[in-house]
Amino acid sequence: MGYLTTDKKKVTAKTLLEMKAAGEKITQMTAYDFTTAGIIDAAGIDSILVGDSASNVMAGNMDTTPITVEQMIYHARAVVRACQRCLVVCDMPFGSYQVSREEGIRNAIRIIKETGAGAVKMEGGREIADTVKGIIDAGIPVIGHLGLTPQSIHKFGGYGLRAKEESEAKKLIEDALALDAAGVSGITLEKVPSALASKVTSMVKAATIGIGAGNETDGQVLVYADALGMTQGFKPKFLRHFANVNQCMTEGVQEYIKCVKEKSFPSVEESY
Ligand code: KIV
Repeated sequence: MGYLTTDKKKVTAKTLLEMKAAGEKITQMTAYDFTTAGIIDAAGIDSILVGDSASNVMAGNMDTTPITVEQMIYHARAVVRACQRCLVVCDMPFGSYQVSREEGIRNAIRIIKETGAGAVKMEGGREIADTVKGIIDAGIPVIGHLGLTPQSIHKFGGYGLRAKEESEAKKLIEDALALDAAGVSGITLEKVPSALASKVTSMVKAATIGIGAGNETDGQVLVYADALGMTQGFKPKFLRHFANVNQCMTEGVQEYIKCVKEKSFPSVEESY
């Protein structure tokens, strides 16, 4: 998309708020590379999240903490190159905004400058609200992330349901209100009870995007490799497989192996 073209249909952070107001569900899926992002954007998704789950899905790490700003920029730049319509949101990785407000703002500016993404996403509540406001004041839309926050996995010690207890639920609501007051465009709500997600959704101006948070958030997000049935052995209750890409790829690779072994590939027509 050149700078002289104004695509009125391009989804921006502002569109998320308009969609919330109109009661239109927001669809988001992760992607980390050009080819996958191109397919997901062309299919009509509203937003692609270049999640720090790239640490798990792309690099095979145990959690999201090792991924760096440089690696996030590499993935997000490739995704942005592929997308015509959807809003690309880039996760700020662990360590890029926790040390100081200034460092958070500097890293957010760097991510936007070097990737062309339309927003950044950050995990945390009141403790990062001042940094979030600084980033928004610098002109960068921010999506918050509450509930299960994988960057704090070592603090919580597991990936179980969050905010089950009333005190935790109260804290989550206060965090959501603090992010909303700071001006976030959206809040990802991960693995929290549906009733709590519904309550937060009705209390904030920002669009809520749920994962394992029931059906009453303003939108839904899933990791593409999980949603499309590529990952094996990971089937939490909230996950639905919308395709069986693992089987499709396995069959394709097996067919390729067979044809090479039996010398039917390449054929005369496929040769120079
Ligand atoms: O990194 C990620 O993929 C995420 C989603 C699970 C929301 O944060």
